[in-house]
Amino acid sequence: MTSVHVTDLVKDYTIRNGLKRTRLRAVDHVSLELTPGRTVALVGESGSGKSTIAKILTRMEKPTAGTVAVERDDGTTVDRSAYRREVQMVFQDPFASLNPFHSIEHHIARPLRIHNRTAKGEETRERVLEMLERVNLTPAANIAPRRPHELSGGQRQRVAIARALAPGAKVLIADEPVSMLDVSIRLGVLNLMGRLQREDDLAVLYITHDLATARHFSDEITVLYRGRVVERGPADAVILDPHHEYTKLLAAAAPDPERPGRVTAADPVDRDAIDNSACYDHFAGEWREAGVPAAEAKAVTRAD
Ligand SMILES: Nc1ncnc2c1ncn2[C@@H]1O[C@H](COP(=O)(O)OP(=O)(O)OP(=O)(O)O)[C@@H](O)[C@H]1O
Ligand SMILES: [Mg+2]
Repeated sequence: MTSVHVTDLVKDYTIRNGLKRTRLRAVDHVSLELTPGRTVALVGESGSGKSTIAKILTRMEKPTAGTVAVERDDGTTVDRSAYRREVQMVFQDPFASLNPFHSIEHHIARPLRIHNRTAKGEETRERVLEMLERVNLTPAANIAPRRPHELSGGQRQRVAIARALAPGAKVLIADEPVSMLDVSIRLGVLNLMGRLQREDDLAVLYITHDLATARHFSDEITVLYRGRVVERGPADAVILDPHHEYTKLLAAAAPDPERPGRVTAADPVDRDAIDNSACYDHFAGEWREAGVPAAEAKAVTRAD
């Protein structure tokens, strides 16, 4: 089994504005553990650094500092090619992530061949049909020759999930996998991911704005605000007993389950006044400094 240890990840972007250059710290000392069979939700508003973390984990971006180590149960680290095979991503927009000129079969056959999962054409085709069935795209033989535009958004996202699992993924990074789908089919896609996770004992990072699905589909929640983790803990603890004012704000703005479609009103808050210098860690039961190396973070006292 494969686990991912993310330690003190930092990502700085340089913003050029005419002759002026400014540095933007998109991710500031974020540490996370992804373990088989567990889902960690990464929650935070737009621009908080969620996708940047996903891109670093899938090696589309290099971190400015910090480490990502992928380890097997026996303590050995995985090499580059195993990493590419085992850590896979599902993107937010299933239309943009699938090539309009290629068939569904092609999308799933390609990773199978690239990663040498199948030897012959016939074996590849069988495996493609099997993968389509696993993600409930049936009859598979009818779906395989179609092109992405001939499928619904939810069906396309199922193809993207099948494609991610095809090479033998052990770790799934799902960056807002249902936020572009119609509300009525979101739960179906999330339930599907939950089933596949149980079947393959996947480690999952579920990135979302939505605290309600984060609670339902995750074991742990990590709350990100302006690049820093401001709260972390078991999903129920973070939702039912939020400590950081930003988590409280998110919880107050979450959709009201008693009144579907409604959002409970949150007080208008001055975002710049929100302090991200400390993180409430439910596992440790204390506040700790945020934005510093994990090993150096001291406990702090703070009214909450
Ligand atoms: N390539 C880039 N160059 C410069 N700045 C970037 C780049 N990519 C991201 N950023 C900035 O880094 C910050 C974090 O962006 P990121 O995409 O990680 O946010 P996010 O939490 O995924 O937001 P959203 O919920 O809108 O997807 C933002 O301020 C963004 O503008
Ligand atoms: Mg994003």
